[in-house]
Amino acid sequence: MKLVPEIACAPLGEINLSKFDAIALPFAKREALAELGNPKLIKLLTKHFESDIAKLFENWPDVTGKAGELIEVPLASQANKVIRLYFIGTGAQSIDDLRKAASSLARKVKGTKVKVLDGLVAEKSAARPHLISLIISSYLWSQKSAPVKEFSAAQFTLVGNFESEVANARTLALAVWRARDLIHTPSNIKNPQWIAEQARSLVTKTKSPALKVEVKRGAALAKFGGLLAVGNSAPKSGPRLVQLSYSPKSSKNWPHVVLVGKGITFDTGGVSLKRPYESMVGMKSDMSGAAAVLATVIAIAEMGKSAPKIRVTGLLMCAENALSSTAQRPSDVITQYGGKTVEVINTDAEGRLVLADGLAYADAKLNPDYLIDIATLTGAATLGLGRQYGAMYTRDISLAQDLYNAGQKSGDRVWHMPLVDDYEIALASEVADLNHTAEKPDFNGGSITAALFLEQFVGERRWIHLDIAGPGRSESDSGENPKGGTGFGVRLLTEWLTSL
Ligand code: BES
Ligand code: MN
Ligand code: ZN
Repeated sequence: MKLVPEIACAPLGEINLSKFDAIALPFAKREALAELGNPKLIKLLTKHFESDIAKLFENWPDVTGKAGELIEVPLASQANKVIRLYFIGTGAQSIDDLRKAASSLARKVKGTKVKVLDGLVAEKSAARPHLISLIISSYLWSQKSAPVKEFSAAQFTLVGNFESEVANARTLALAVWRARDLIHTPSNIKNPQWIAEQARSLVTKTKSPALKVEVKRGAALAKFGGLLAVGNSAPKSGPRLVQLSYSPKSSKNWPHVVLVGKGITFDTGGVSLKRPYESMVGMKSDMSGAAAVLATVIAIAEMGKSAPKIRVTGLLMCAENALSSTAQRPSDVITQYGGKTVEVINTDAEGRLVLADGLAYADAKLNPDYLIDIATLTGAATLGLGRQYGAMYTRDISLAQDLYNAGQKSGDRVWHMPLVDDYEIALASEVADLNHTAEKPDFNGGSITAALFLEQFVGERRWIHLDIAGPGRSESDSGENPKGGTGFGVRLLTEWLTSL
């Protein structure tokens, strides 16, 4: 946590330029610095440096103004202190462009103690997303035994009156940061019990009277046949169901949202061992859905008085999918929560088994107005959409529209996918109510058939399934994302919950 950059804001009148090591100014094209950048700030800088800042920029060759483009100009002030000017492209100044500009700036100063005056944002609506991007683009994870050189954090001061945006951005960015810390933790440390402990300690630290946590294990999980079948493959620790509830006083009539997260702490595939074997290496991140749910519930509680008027229950379905003598076998028949029987064909399709229990339990016991699940569920979702969009499934068009909008606004984008009824026959089993992998006939829609399977467990609820196998991981350390777990879903869910 000590690596998290600090963010603040200050109106121009209160800014003392000599306190900063770097100043970021926007440009959209070669000539456009003066119009774009706060003219008063430019004036102030021009006076401070006794040099025409706008002119200085105009002479720079070969710039396009593309969002994120960065030009560095060191300047000495009267007091002979060198300040770095960063001219940063802001493109069409859309919120996305200002996010890209933030990533570019944050990465430039990442891991240094630099104090940056950030003059990139003019519109209030862009302040919050821009600030969130500054923090999450600075994310660093390391377990090196010697201190890493980059282990210090920058400080950003945004020019303008954005107090409430700063506070909210800090809460949200820290939530993404937390989800990433959980996802990056290797699986020799991170078993289901460890996740339960993390959830407990986060709840304690949040000090919200509205927030409670309950952990089910052992005999308390007797009816959760999917969670047990998967999680008993790793007796140390066995599976856990972590139930977080955010329920402020007088919230009785507020809408109740249940969020169910896939929390597979490592996915070997089980007896149906994952192939090619290299594809297993990333599977410590198979609890990204649970991490997003945990971080989201905590963030909502942290909002305190400014939190939306809703009740939220988070269900973290935690289990390890190990290869062991207690692992389930292909052809096993299990009984999910609520009584439906399922023929297990491929033990690598474990996510839907643990989610089905969570969804059926929510439907039977928690009376949700909205039921959302989020999971790194299928490689097929990534084949279809790549890593920038999550796959969203629901039959509720207006809910889909709301989530889509929340995605566009927050940066965690989702695309509405079809629940194709004709593919449902692939879920038929000769011996059980359902088979879970939909192999015959093969419709090739692996993400769709997984969603159709889950739909069997949601009753009549307003339900959304989010398959985040693509955007949950990043292949490279670039933009807002580190290599590995991205914390996808935290911004999407908080944005949507805040809009209810
Ligand atoms: N956790 C994986 C899905 C996954 C794959 C997430 C790659 C992130 C990156 C899931 O448990 C899985 O193994 N799904 C199988 C389902 C198949 C056996 C029906 C898949 O997608 O291949
Ligand atoms: Mn799997
Ligand atoms: Zn999995």
